[in-house]
Amino acid sequence: RNLKWQIECRADIGRLSAPFLAIYESLIPAEEEKAKQKKLLTLLEKLVCKEWPDARLYLYGSCANSFGVSKSDIDVCLAINDSEINKSEVLLKLADILQSDNLQNVQALTRARVPIVKLMDPVTGISCDICINNLLAVVNTKLLRDYAQIDVRLQQLAFIVKHWAKSRGVNVTYQGTLSSYAYVLMCIHFLQQRRPAILPCLQGMEKTYSVTVDDIECAYFDQVDKLHGFGSRNKESIARLVWAFFNYWAYGHDYASNVISVRTGSTISKQEKDWTRRIGNDRHLICIEDPFEVTHDLGRVVDKFSIKVLREEFERAAEIMQHDPNPCVKLFEPY
Ligand code: CTP
Ligand code: MG
Repeated sequence: RNLKWQIECRADIGRLSAPFLAIYESLIPAEEEKAKQKKLLTLLEKLVCKEWPDARLYLYGSCANSFGVSKSDIDVCLAINDSEINKSEVLLKLADILQSDNLQNVQALTRARVPIVKLMDPVTGISCDICINNLLAVVNTKLLRDYAQIDVRLQQLAFIVKHWAKSRGVNVTYQGTLSSYAYVLMCIHFLQQRRPAILPCLQGMEKTYSVTVDDIECAYFDQVDKLHGFGSRNKESIARLVWAFFNYWAYGHDYASNVISVRTGSTISKQEKDWTRRIGNDRHLICIEDPFEVTHDLGRVVDKFSIKVLREEFERAAEIMQHDPNPCVKLFEPY
């Protein structure tokens, strides 16, 4: 297995960048979509403020982290500064308010892992999930957005990887494959590891931004406009990076011993995190450390069946990137 990690990249990799870039461009949301999202957020703010004058609404997830493709739903967090609240009651009340304002398909899912209200706005056609006080998600959304400002190859790689994962059916957490958030962290980690590095480790630098959320200190260097050109000594093309990304996850990553960690800009050992055996439902078969909630392994959804599916998909993608005459077609073929 590990011998393949040493293989040399195909000689014609350069000619593959144009079609990958064309796919990336086609996935970028139009400006008018962003405007519609803003409009819906403003409407929601107006409705929410009547009931909870001190509450705030934040966008998080792909609509705010720079990794959203066009026609995505939006994720909203309602922040209520009161530790006494009962989330279910707030969600039911919120659903009531939204329903009486002509929003459609309003549903309160109070027993979900992350309880939310779902709705669809008939004016903009946008669907939306609203959660309560999930501020860590708002902060990790900012971290991802800040990383995206540093080198455009992150956004390109992540769009391609997310598009691949959706096409191949390996972006379904309830089936034991990985979340989009996990794939983006895998891309960031991968670009931190290139030599020369394409991305820095923001949490390892001077802390210019710091908030404490749920007793977790979230701090890092967020003046990313000063980091423009950070990765410019590395000239790797997007096709070469896609090739190397899949090679890494197919043949290079040490699944038995290593955890990838954006927080440290490196890999750390499973031993060190005590992620060496199954505890409850956490099996740690592929380990991706959350940058702030460091006890959280984003690979914990993966089980002994889905790890096989995932690794076979990484190998399939690596093979296609190495040998297929037209990888941009084959890579994204529906499964
Ligand atoms: N999130 C998190 N922890 C997880 C999964 C998600 O904190 N285990 C938060 C992150 O802030 C993430 C957001 O929830 O940005 C949305 O997650 P997800 O749906 O996986 O990512 P999106 O970027 O919204 O991707 P998609 O385009 O597939 O909707
Ligand atoms: Mg989402």
